Amino acid sequence: MKKVTAIAHTNIALIKYWGKADEELRIPYTDSLSLTLNDFYTETSVSRSLKDEFWLDNKLQDLTHSKRVFKFLDYFRKKFNINEHFLIKSFNHVPNSAGLASSASAFAALAAALVKVMDFNLSFEDISKLARVGSGSASRSIMGGFVQWHAGIDDETSFAEQFNDGQNIDISLISVILNDTPKKISSTEGMLKTKLTSPFYQIWPKVVEKDLTDIKKAISNNDFNKIGEIAEHNAMEMHALTFSSNPSFTYFEPETLELINYIHELRASGIPVYFTIDAGPNVKVICQKETVNLVNDKLTTKFNNIKTIVTKPGPGIQYKTI
Ligand code: PMV
Repeated sequence: MKKVTAIAHTNIALIKYWGKADEELRIPYTDSLSLTLNDFYTETSVSRSLKDEFWLDNKLQDLTHSKRVFKFLDYFRKKFNINEHFLIKSFNHVPNSAGLASSASAFAALAAALVKVMDFNLSFEDISKLARVGSGSASRSIMGGFVQWHAGIDDETSFAEQFNDGQNIDISLISVILNDTPKKISSTEGMLKTKLTSPFYQIWPKVVEKDLTDIKKAISNNDFNKIGEIAEHNAMEMHALTFSSNPSFTYFEPETLELINYIHELRASGIPVYFTIDAGPNVKVICQKETVNLVNDKLTTKFNNIKTIVTKPGPGIQYKTI
């Protein structure tokens, strides 16, 4: 029986996706832009089978833990008008403690493997459309480097595309784990709350439009400081939406603010360093090759309860031939 193995890397948004225009199809309100990361990935093997089965890290998952994957398989069958069932074996190389969502690499690898096992001849953009329905950010993990997800208005027009492969841009990332307890408000729930209750949500599309134009210019000019400045500002604009919701909520913990202040201090001392934060308390520090070890040492000396993982721009979908 034919088996296909696909590898997808996770990504970090520099311009955030925050809010869906269509909840089911995961069509976002705005474009977003991310960096695919080299050291965190999911490897997924798929073969046709008599029934659907989902294994994660060598463990057969029960119905509750397979629900999202099975829903995605139903969508895949319906979209391509097929009746096949699949045996799925996934290995996550995104440590839970990395503070990075594994759903992006998970659904990107699954979409890529499914398409190949069925011998469908789809473009990366079409695979991105499929992955998007599993998890919004998965649409961006199909490509490597800096990737723009075009919001679009429907399934056909909402997909990601590589903007720059990142190979000539000096950018490194330190994933800082302050707290690895699961978040209380999922990103889907958080997006919905802000969309419905934050008076500032109506200007969010304008904010993203400007930040996106500016960061693309900065990437094209290989201007690290501008990239960092814009990414940091965009993250804070996204978190301002949670603070301004009614009732208000935040993903920050006290340690998040301490770390933000420390990054500001390092920057004031002359080190070019910035941060971004997703829907959780952990901080991703953006720096350059020549300062990454220095910054990492300073962070682990200043805060003794943190874990850090250093990474750099990573590739798009890869298939393993066995
Ligand atoms: O794709 P989701 O549902 O995990 O949402 C991602 C939300 C953020 O990580 C906060 C932003 C983004 O663009 O990845």
